[in-house]
Amino acid sequence: FKQVEIALRGAYIDFKDNPFRNDPSGCLVHESDAIIWIRDGKVLQVGPASDLLPQLPEGIPVTHYRDSVILPGFIDSHVHYPQTPIIGAYGEQLLEWLNNYTFVAEQAFADKDVAREVARFYLRENLRNGVTSATVYCTVFPQSVDALFEEAQPYGMRLMAGKIMMDRNAPAALTDTAQSGYDQSKQLIERWHGKDRFEYVITPRFAPTSTPEQLEAAGALAREYPDTLIQSHISENKNEIAWVNQLFPQHKGYADVYRHFGLLRERAIYGHGIHLTEEELHLFSETGAAIAHCPTSNLFLGSGLFNIRTALDAKRPVHVGLATDLGAGTSFSLLQTLNEAYKVAQLNGVPLSATHAFYQATRGTAEALGLQDRIGRIAAGMEADFAVLDLQSTPLIRFRMKYADSIEEALFINMTLGDDRAIRATWVNGACVYDREQDAQQEVR
Ligand code: GUN
Ligand code: ZN
Repeated sequence: FKQVEIALRGAYIDFKDNPFRNDPSGCLVHESDAIIWIRDGKVLQVGPASDLLPQLPEGIPVTHYRDSVILPGFIDSHVHYPQTPIIGAYGEQLLEWLNNYTFVAEQAFADKDVAREVARFYLRENLRNGVTSATVYCTVFPQSVDALFEEAQPYGMRLMAGKIMMDRNAPAALTDTAQSGYDQSKQLIERWHGKDRFEYVITPRFAPTSTPEQLEAAGALAREYPDTLIQSHISENKNEIAWVNQLFPQHKGYADVYRHFGLLRERAIYGHGIHLTEEELHLFSETGAAIAHCPTSNLFLGSGLFNIRTALDAKRPVHVGLATDLGAGTSFSLLQTLNEAYKVAQLNGVPLSATHAFYQATRGTAEALGLQDRIGRIAAGMEADFAVLDLQSTPLIRFRMKYADSIEEALFINMTLGDDRAIRATWVNGACVYDREQDAQQEVR
């Protein structure tokens, strides 16, 4: 067995503390010329090039990125890969959008070849955007989960995904039953959970499309497999909330439905949570459940403005992950997602600094998913997943950068103006899986 050693050289950032809880100026680590020394897919050591260069073993390949900053790979904590073909579908809010676009598109995934083709494009697009890890909704069809994991296998990505459970209020072609949803999910757990860097996510779509019997079955699975993740949606849209109150009149509210069925716990992550009450946020805080903040989606569907500061409030902190929520979300780029998160925070009265924003897109999201010991940082022992951010990727950014005089300002300019073009390269598990220059050459040929 031969150990694979490799190194990156360049500027990098990392977060040694949570800027929402500590003085932000002490949280951001920035080294302008560093070595990241990788062995077998993990960071062995990271530090100033002046210290580490002399220690590197002879002959080790060193990839040097100039005019860039190496970041921990971005993590997308809530995304629907089968909705890639319907991004930018006009005109509707959540419930109409689901019926008119989503439930039509998802039916095609009964065909595994369709699922494979979309999964392949979806994964490449993630890598083009520096997204190295994601928590993914598939469809009700188990083969749509197999297709995604099989396509991801060659990249060595840390990927979390699950089959949607949905046994009412959807087209017959898209529904399972409490029993078949349970059985199929269990089979997928046995097949994929813990294989490579994959984990299974128990995925009841949301309370309105599951009977109490199905939510009960999802809760039973979660107890049988306590180290799996759970994902669903909550309090995204006012009509959705009214519908849940009608369907579950015996419960105290939306969060209480999930609590009742044992679906609020550590490693459970709920999309949106825009309209959660203070009492419900307490429930999230006590149980350790997390919220996935999806700003581009919330603006696109007109769902509302999620208040990240309220959610993170230290008096009863709730974990928050950042997410695209494609295809209601409108960009694969976590930079563009931060751009919109900033504007949403502005409208809520407190802006989001670059330090807060980049923390939330990396280490903060890893914590929301219970993955903080593996991903989300560039530090010894962490898995070697990186996004290499080119700070000068467009004429406008290059021009604007002449007037920038700190790393915080450079990062803020890039989260406001940057997109997929700003990702110079993406590394997964200690290997380069995307290189912008090579991709450009392939297009020319
Ligand atoms: N709520 C239930 N399903 C969905 C979905 O696919 N997208 C969004 N944005 N919200 C949902
Ligand atoms: Zn969603």
